[in-house]
Amino acid sequence: MLLLFVFANSLWAHAQEIFSPNKNLSLKFEIKENGVPTYQLTYKKKPVIQPSSLGLELKDMPSFMDGFSITNTAQSSVDNSWNPVMGEEKTIRNNYNELVVTLAQAKNNNRYIRIRFRLFNDGLGFRYEFPKQNDLNYFVIKEERTEFQLAGNHKIFWIPGDYDTNEYAYTTSKISEIPSLMQKATIEINSQWPIKELAVQTPSMMKSADGLYINIHEAALINYPAMYLEVDPVTNKLRSHLAPDAVGNKGYMQTDTQTPWRTIVVSDKATEILASKLILNLNEPTSYKDVSWIKPIKFIGIWWEYFVAGKSTWAYGVENNVKLTDDFSKLTTNGKHGATTERAKEYIDFASKNGFDAILIEGWNIGWEDWINNWKEEVFDYVTAYPDFDVKAVHEYAASKGVKIMMHHETSGSATNYERRLDRAFQFMKDNGYNSVKTGYVGKIIPRGEHHDGQWMVDHYIHVAKRAADYKIMVDSHEAVRPTGLNRTFPNWIAQESARGTEFESMGGLSPDHTTILPFTRLMGGPMDFTPGIFQTDLSYYGTGSTQRVNTTLVKQLAYYVTMYSPLQMAADIPGNYERFPDAFQFIKDVAVDWDNSYILEAEPGDYITIARKAKAKNEWFVGGITDENVRTANITFDYLPAGKKYIATIYADAKDANWNKNPQKYTVTKVVVTSKSVLKQYIAPGGGVAISIKEGTTSDMKGLNKL
Ligand code: NOJ
Ligand code: CA
Repeated sequence: MLLLFVFANSLWAHAQEIFSPNKNLSLKFEIKENGVPTYQLTYKKKPVIQPSSLGLELKDMPSFMDGFSITNTAQSSVDNSWNPVMGEEKTIRNNYNELVVTLAQAKNNNRYIRIRFRLFNDGLGFRYEFPKQNDLNYFVIKEERTEFQLAGNHKIFWIPGDYDTNEYAYTTSKISEIPSLMQKATIEINSQWPIKELAVQTPSMMKSADGLYINIHEAALINYPAMYLEVDPVTNKLRSHLAPDAVGNKGYMQTDTQTPWRTIVVSDKATEILASKLILNLNEPTSYKDVSWIKPIKFIGIWWEYFVAGKSTWAYGVENNVKLTDDFSKLTTNGKHGATTERAKEYIDFASKNGFDAILIEGWNIGWEDWINNWKEEVFDYVTAYPDFDVKAVHEYAASKGVKIMMHHETSGSATNYERRLDRAFQFMKDNGYNSVKTGYVGKIIPRGEHHDGQWMVDHYIHVAKRAADYKIMVDSHEAVRPTGLNRTFPNWIAQESARGTEFESMGGLSPDHTTILPFTRLMGGPMDFTPGIFQTDLSYYGTGSTQRVNTTLVKQLAYYVTMYSPLQMAADIPGNYERFPDAFQFIKDVAVDWDNSYILEAEPGDYITIARKAKAKNEWFVGGITDENVRTANITFDYLPAGKKYIATIYADAKDANWNKNPQKYTVTKVVVTSKSVLKQYIAPGGGVAISIKEGTTSDMKGLNKL
């Protein structure tokens, strides 16, 4: 009896298993041979992650790779809910079972770590924790060695692993095909730094042959470098790889501390991947006391014309060898400066007439003549306007029309210069009535040798978000490290770019399936400032010699306001183009950007997405559906509408002969009456979409309308 007990007890000490609240997922933790920590994950009895080892290599210190034994385990459960400041859902349920294992290394004076696993119904999160202890204080991470042994040669939607950019086009292939496709996938982009080892970025989206959708990313990336996945194309094993700093080290740590969460979202339904709130749940609640100043923003901007028309520029003068200390009032103008007081007033008029919250004005400040590629320390000062842009006059005019101006801080990658000037820049914004800023990090980073995704820059972006909060300023960062749900903790960091967005439609174009992949990859981490809303898709229209085209129908651009979640949404086209299509523009004017509920109706990465959402605190619903290059029939249900009531749905649809390539601007706008029982089989053109707004109406409003 006693022997049996001892045996069982020692087994218990080596293996631990927990289940998700609904029992679909199981997580098993074990100490394998040589004291190597190992975990495995199954979903409805199918292997998601086969036994995979956990550990870290340290610099000039014994590693955290092996020689471990379990000294303690603890299990607990949590089921509560919380309300994000802005989001896809008004209330988010946080429900998981937790296992914490304490692992000591006898060979290293019983130095110990903890691994914390949280198993939700939609996946697993786990992190390494380093408590305060005698034999561990400061340490430097040489590499994190977290393994993800996949159960097969899955289909994967990937972009090349790169320390400095996420602005690549996606490749869809088998894992085994990544090596032969890597070179082609690594197209040339500004300030890229492809990883030498075979690696892909996260969020990494995969689909197994037996129909499991698996998404690997991270949550709460704070004071640590971003993680990429090294790929073994023979064994289907993925392994963590961290962004290095200028001297090749990875993370600088001091106990008590921890790594970000490693996340594996899994389901047999693609729609559940998009609905997952696991990454947000693994981030800390905000500590901001007052969040009343954080608001959704729908905006237009002096922006797209820089990319397409060639008729205006960020720079005031001729691209030249200038210095910040030069007298810019003496600069000879190139005659094409976009951000003039006059132009700003025209945009303000348009914004106010059409109900936009704000206008973004890029190119308002000195420095653009000489900003790219020179790795200059000081390109912008963030407070001096060009001679033809009157900050005070523009703000007074905007205020009189009830419109906000969105600040633009392009840093040219010189984060040091930006940090030195940050307080003055934010004070300038306060003094002049700005409450939001679009930041940008185009170019190689200064401090020289640092990367966009390294620990130093990760801390920089957070520093900017926190400092901005001190001034009640909202931040929309471009070219920053991809998001990991930190908008929960820092809710004024309201959106990010960190992916290939609309700007690339003017530089070679996005493939028609790109935006059916983004929500499964980049947007898993947080809202994206994708800058949708381009109506004039054929850029030869401008007569500037451009033969580029935006690879969508006009209606697909409308659908993006629903399929591409962000509480900050731009109507990116030039106002004149909206005036040409007033009936389609109506959808952009109406669509909400903050939501009570979201319903992922249909989805398949790389193929299609259909989503319905209920506007925040309003009885209005919006539906967006998109397809790739193939025609499709979307199955749109309305069962999220309150039962027994009639609503008016305005359906913006591709015309039968519409096509992203040859006939993008043909569409129909139809009003019908819908109820919770209605079902719509909606034709979507190749590269097209559908957008629907649903509102309450009186009987007389509904008179003469067909019922769906
Ligand atoms: C790249 C950003 O993505 C784009 O939106 C911006 O206009 C330029 N940088 C200039 O800052
Ligand atoms: Ca960009």
